[in-house]
Amino acid sequence: SDLDSFVAGLPKAELHLHIEGSLEPEQMFEFARRNRIDIPFASVEEVRAAYSFSRLQDFLDIYYQGANVLRTEEDFRDLARAYFARAAADNVRHAEIFFDPQTHTARGIPFGVVADGLLAGMADAQAEHGITSRLILCFLRHLEEADAFETLEQAAPYYDRIAGVGLDSSELGHPPEKFARVFAAARSHGLKLVAHAGEEGPPEYVAQALDLLEIDRLDHGNRSLEDPLLVTRLARSGMTLTVCPLSNLKLCVVEDIRQHPIERMLRLGLRATINSDDPAYFGGYVNDNYRAIAGNGTLSAQDFVTLARHSFLGSFLPDGEVSAHL
Ligand code: HPA
Ligand code: ZN
Repeated sequence: SDLDSFVAGLPKAELHLHIEGSLEPEQMFEFARRNRIDIPFASVEEVRAAYSFSRLQDFLDIYYQGANVLRTEEDFRDLARAYFARAAADNVRHAEIFFDPQTHTARGIPFGVVADGLLAGMADAQAEHGITSRLILCFLRHLEEADAFETLEQAAPYYDRIAGVGLDSSELGHPPEKFARVFAAARSHGLKLVAHAGEEGPPEYVAQALDLLEIDRLDHGNRSLEDPLLVTRLARSGMTLTVCPLSNLKLCVVEDIRQHPIERMLRLGLRATINSDDPAYFGGYVNDNYRAIAGNGTLSAQDFVTLARHSFLGSFLPDGEVSAHL
């Protein structure tokens, strides 16, 4: 439709993208072959057929398994390059990408191999597509606080090349309060702070992310809508929410795309953005997510301009660079 092509052409930023979640099945086979690793799938079709989830944990189990083929600096560089090529095709001008170092260091891959590979891919993206980007180190919340502290220490040589830290993996049972001290330490090193909260977890977890982690940006945040006072607080403070429609659908955070709360978020005055989360696993890159929402027929072209505008406003680019995108 006309709206689809208008939305596809909008310059946008992507603020919620797990680089390990951009590993396409074809690339999984390619990395497995060149690293001589056995994978428990016979074909790309078999891999895709396994991507059927009824909750976050179903996805996480298969996502951590997929990451096992990533071994060398070249793998991480190629992974990032492939993502940025897709992003460029969707008119993404800036991306702030998550990585999960603990998924790799636990398998004996040094932190520096992961970080150097991703940073090289980001430099390639700038040169080849003119896309700017930032790196956000996510702590795995199902692991201990001490493991997060160890990871933050491993990152020390990279503090000037990492924009911030985040919190991902299994939300239920792992509230933000578990990471209050490591987030305070990250803040003291000049890093920005973001956290996944209110995807499966209750509104109390969002409040903890605000009060105890002092986040600069909220990842997902869907369940904030259950608490009107929390919504008012998020709206008044201009907090950016990085919302992921196709992820929400595939992980059964919403039953039907027509029930997706992004329209309600906008009408409530929240600074919501549209993002792809783990595009290789959830059926689409950022424009597929915009298109899924456009298909509901409830948002206008002006609403999509607002959403794209929010994506730059919510970024960690310096003010002068943000303005240049608006
Ligand atoms: N939620 C929690 N952890 C994750 C996600 C997510 O959507 N994607 C990758 N790790
Ligand atoms: Zn996520």
